[in-house]
Amino acid sequence: MQQIRNIVILTGAGISAESGIDTFRGGGGLWEQHRVEDVATPEAFARDPDLVLRFYDMRRAAIQEKQPNAAHTALARLEAEWPGNLLLVTQNVDDLHERGGSRRVLHMHGEHLNAWCTSCDIRSRWTGPLIDRPACPACAAPTLRPDVVWFGEMPYRMGEIYAALREADLFVSIGTSGAVYPAAGFVQNARELGARTLELNLERSQGSHWFHESRLGPATEVVPAWVDEMLGFA
Ligand code: APR
Repeated sequence: MQQIRNIVILTGAGISAESGIDTFRGGGGLWEQHRVEDVATPEAFARDPDLVLRFYDMRRAAIQEKQPNAAHTALARLEAEWPGNLLLVTQNVDDLHERGGSRRVLHMHGEHLNAWCTSCDIRSRWTGPLIDRPACPACAAPTLRPDVVWFGEMPYRMGEIYAALREADLFVSIGTSGAVYPAAGFVQNARELGARTLELNLERSQGSHWFHESRLGPATEVVPAWVDEMLGFA
């Protein structure tokens, strides 16, 4: 068995599903309730900013009432106790990893609890609505937008992610459908660079064939069990 020291974990909406946050695809998912083209592209924001701001105001308010679950807290425990390197990359824009205790979380698709000013380019912590065009805390311009990476925009901190994938001995994907690139391509990158690859998901993802192993089940069950194993408790 390959010596595992450096771990890269990728999470998606499935890890927050049991906290009551909708996933995107699958029965009753967000993209069944809203058209991506209407709420999650720069073109949609230019065309109808009120519709987009109202959509994210609703999401921003909703996540603040949700609590991290056993999968989030298990990953925080792994981060605290793992003797090697661990990078947690999330596609999620909620803050449940941080409220679950994780310290090193890389939000590649942005964060609901940030607002981004399109005048001064500063990002500010933001928990309230944006629909009334509040002033930017840094430059006072009324030009704040959600700090979420929309379709057609570049995800954040890709250089750091690829550098960690190059060093990874183990790549673990949790609660993601593998439908959206570049995140969906990380497993292939990691595998071709020699890492062992593991999927923890409710069902097989679109990139399932790239994983050495798939463990299927709810995140609150499969993630704590895997963490126990990694920390030698199982
Ligand atoms: N436990 C584990 N996995 C789950 C659970 C659960 N309780 N519930 C759902 N899942 C799995 C589903 O089987 C599915 O494979 O989580 C995955 C969720 O997939 P998506 O809804 O497609 O979400 P995600 O993969 O995070 O989407 C990627 O797409 O819409 C964009 O930017 C958005 O970050 C998002 C990206």
